[in-house]
Amino acid sequence: MPPPDSVPLVELRDVTKAYAEGDTVREVLSGVRLALHRGEFVVLLGRSGSGKSTLLNLISGIDLPSQGEVRVDGRDLGRLNERERTLLRRERIGFIFQAFNLLPTLTVEENVRLPLELNGHGGAEASARARVLLEQVGLGNRANSFPDRLSGGEQQRVAVARALAHEPPLLLADEPTGNLDEATGRQVLDLLEALTRKGNTCALVVTHEPGLVARAHRVLTMEGGRLVEVPQAPARKEAL
Ligand SMILES: Nc1ncnc2c1ncn2[C@@H]1O[C@H](COP(=O)(O)OP(=O)(O)O)[C@@H](O)[C@H]1O
Ligand SMILES: [Mg+2]
Repeated sequence: MPPPDSVPLVELRDVTKAYAEGDTVREVLSGVRLALHRGEFVVLLGRSGSGKSTLLNLISGIDLPSQGEVRVDGRDLGRLNERERTLLRRERIGFIFQAFNLLPTLTVEENVRLPLELNGHGGAEASARARVLLEQVGLGNRANSFPDRLSGGEQQRVAVARALAHEPPLLLADEPTGNLDEATGRQVLDLLEALTRKGNTCALVVTHEPGLVARAHRVLTMEGGRLVEVPQAPARKEAL
């Protein structure tokens, strides 16, 4: 456990998010509180439409809350302008989208290099790092392929490599195995867990994969607009 006085990597203070729907306003998140620390592997559960993607979008600063504060590394995202939020996201966050979002005109290696380039670390070092990551995800021989030549499972593994390329302290993954068969999905999650553990990264992963739920440090669930911590058997935590 982190020391109680350490600044959380992510902190949500009474976060509410409401969307207007015609004349009515519908609250998707209601007074959500959360603190995440480095090294934690956290699974987020919840039914479809319960607000999981909304929560990830708020944490990444893609979207802003209606009320309350979202802090990343102690910085209140609501006090940053859009460019500052983009920079923070680029430097501090890796995001794995459900639909991969690989850039079709870039090769596999160029896709993985992109976060490094955007952070000003191009050149031979970036290529070397991309190659190592592609080896780790089992795609060392596909560096020069274009994404549309890859299967769904392979594209998802490229998305994992890309999200981790710049060694972000925070990894957000939105149903990263939603489009994969069971065996490939398990492979992707194993890899995600191993790579985040190695980098002492905090990972918040939306998934219903039972194997991962059992291995997570913490399991949270979205219910009626609130975030609820699911108690875990002590044996599970000790087994980590
Ligand atoms: N931009 C938006 N405008 C209006 N309603 C939205 C918007 N984004 C999400 N919602 C609504 O918020 C609820 C939660 O959505 P979402 O966070 O995507 O759920 P989940 O990821 O858990 O399936 C849904 O009812 C959805 O329709
Ligand atoms: Mg979603």
